[in-house]
Amino acid sequence: KKLILVAGARPNFMKIAPLMHALKNHKSIKPILVHTGQHYDVKMSGQFFDELNIPTPDINLEVGSASHAVQTARIMEGFEKVCISEQPDFVLVVGDVNSTAACTLVASKMGIKTIHYEAGLRSNDRTMPEEINRLVTDAISDVFITTSVDADDNLLREGVAADKIHMLGNLMIDSLVEQLPKAQQTELVFKLLNHDREIRLGSDFKAGEYGALTFHRPGNVDDKDTLTLLVNLWGEISQRIPLVFPVHPRTYKNIQQFGLQHDIDKYPNLYFIEPLGYLQFIHLVSRSAFALTDSGGIQEETTFLNIPCLTVRPNTERPVTVWEGSNKLIKVHDIVAEVSSIIDGEGKHGTVPKYWDGHAAERIIHLIDEL
Ligand code: UD1
Repeated sequence: KKLILVAGARPNFMKIAPLMHALKNHKSIKPILVHTGQHYDVKMSGQFFDELNIPTPDINLEVGSASHAVQTARIMEGFEKVCISEQPDFVLVVGDVNSTAACTLVASKMGIKTIHYEAGLRSNDRTMPEEINRLVTDAISDVFITTSVDADDNLLREGVAADKIHMLGNLMIDSLVEQLPKAQQTELVFKLLNHDREIRLGSDFKAGEYGALTFHRPGNVDDKDTLTLLVNLWGEISQRIPLVFPVHPRTYKNIQQFGLQHDIDKYPNLYFIEPLGYLQFIHLVSRSAFALTDSGGIQEETTFLNIPCLTVRPNTERPVTVWEGSNKLIKVHDIVAEVSSIIDGEGKHGTVPKYWDGHAAERIIHLIDEL
């Protein structure tokens, strides 16, 4: 069987890695790895392939950044050619990025069976581009692999037949389980963005006594007033506890454009650094007192690590991290109070959801082998 696996953006890479490892020397499934090139920087892409030991993609569509419509169209054009020349039996897509929806649309119209890993997650918020991608992908996929039972319920409610839904666990946790020991050997020394200064774990920020910060959702960082407010709230928190922020390119661009560097410079313990590779990032989160974020994946990683996570969003497509895990949804205006209660020892702790155990890839490959 020929299986095309699609990877496009940073959060896809830690989901693809364990699958590629499980497929190495597989008897009956031949994998073909396609990188759409949605993310292309060394820091957003190349570094993850190296650290996660993902083989060099067989095909790179090199689509780059563009508007949603243009980026999606470029992926579709490129991927159609790939499907014509490769004639795969299956296409597997992961997550909810533009590459996920674009490739599913192409494959399903060509009559190629599509498998969506991380199916069924719903924020029920159509202002998020990722929610549109999830809805489109799940409307036309053939096989649905989910990470938690709430996703199964969403799919059943939308009319997907039960025998097409397979709750097999969390690939992102496979990568985390495998890489955490190595990650914790990395040195956490970072150069500050726009400053000629280095910060390091143990002196400028100490294990268990800092927050790991990530923000990149358009809803939080694309609006000048919201981002200005956020920067100053982070600054206020940093006066109590250092914050380390590997800044996403989208956020960094907006900080420059809105002229917010001056606000950041007012706070000596608000550390803005370049985006990190996988190992250093996991290390950073695993030693933190809490994560303050609007990311999807970090809600899952902190749940596994049982580190309190404050997610600054009105909703989450990953509610299991709130019911079972250490995640809490909060409003922008409550950030300072919520962090204070964590510092005062009232951070949320929880349990690890079923099958978030480091063995999801084996289960998924076994399923594909049986299809
Ligand atoms: C995308 C995903 C989002 C995911 C995020 C993780 C969609 C709709 N969104 O958002 O779900 O959480 O990736 O990072 O697919 N850029 C670079 N270098 C790169 C890639 C991007 O500098 O390698 C810059 C580009 O200038 C671009 C901006 O970042 O304009 C945003 O990139 P894009 O891929 O459009 O969306 P993300 O915000 O990264």
